[in-house]
Amino acid sequence: MAVHDQPGIGPGIQPDPRPGIVIQPPPEIDDRPPGVGLDRTTVFDLEGLAVYYGEFRAVRDVTMQIFKNEITAFIGPSGCGKTTVLRCFNRMHDVTPGARVVGQLRYHTAELYAPHVSATEVRRRIGMVFQKPNPFPKSIYDNVAFGLRSKGIRGRSEVDAIVERSLRSAALWDEVKDRLRASALGLSGGQQQRLCIARTIAVDPEVVLMDEPCSALDPVATARIEELMRELRAAYTIVIVTHNMQQAGRVSDRTAFFTTEVDSKFARRTGTLVEYDTTHNIFAKPRDQRTERYITGRFG
Ligand SMILES: Nc1ncnc2c1ncn2[C@@H]1O[C@H](COP(=O)(O)OP(=O)(O)OP(=O)(O)O)[C@@H](O)[C@H]1O
Ligand SMILES: [Mg+2]
Repeated sequence: MAVHDQPGIGPGIQPDPRPGIVIQPPPEIDDRPPGVGLDRTTVFDLEGLAVYYGEFRAVRDVTMQIFKNEITAFIGPSGCGKTTVLRCFNRMHDVTPGARVVGQLRYHTAELYAPHVSATEVRRRIGMVFQKPNPFPKSIYDNVAFGLRSKGIRGRSEVDAIVERSLRSAALWDEVKDRLRASALGLSGGQQQRLCIARTIAVDPEVVLMDEPCSALDPVATARIEELMRELRAAYTIVIVTHNMQQAGRVSDRTAFFTTEVDSKFARRTGTLVEYDTTHNIFAKPRDQRTERYITGRFG
């Protein structure tokens, strides 16, 4: 069977060389309910962004816009700077010794790295879910309630309501409602990751950043999280790093492909943004050969 006769493979798309895996471009048509996420409000505006660790320029020339109520996926080979760029969005580099962010990074109209901008406030509005679920060694309830105190929410009934709402939004409530006082460490990996999502959304952020949130999970738990991301998109703007191109194709609206290149200024390979477009275009008709080589499994 010719490549283009295979289901789900359009012009320019080759099958993934791994047996049984085909990268299927997502539908071009926007499938979200009318009125949701169609305003194309820019949440982050990056221009010529670069990040240094000491003297080393880890990633450079990142110019892109992240849009409200969309899921944006970052893909690319290891070391290309996906995590580094993601961590810029909630000022995590403030706590990395030697890290320096240069260029423009605007969150709505605010320059995110301006001296008067509070990193604590930034992290309340822009939450992060990590690769490895990291619940606190506390009860399920206390994990979700954790950030509420710093927001000044202390009333018992209000906290109860937010904990329930957050666990419901994270599709975990039914599984834990009878053991809210049990330790979060007794949950399965997939449940722990949904708990971390509940903890993140409990403080009502605008943006949720996810760095390979499913890499420690089995396919069933992964499917749950992917379904959850699609649901959360109505209320949040999501940026996800993933090594799983099928996942990027399934869940994201837009995809940014990063790669590593030898930088003439440094002996080491450094990361750069190659192509950023709708997920459909990235997978069905990439403009850059490097993108095409990567998504067809011939590089990285
Ligand atoms: N804290 C740090 N100190 C020094 N160099 C770092 C630090 N974190 C990352 N780097 C370097 O910056 C570059 C980009 O790393 P980053 O973790 O952003 O890549 P990545 O695309 O997320 O890779 P992976 O897919 O393996 O997670 C790499 O060369 C890495 O070695
Ligand atoms: Mg990473």
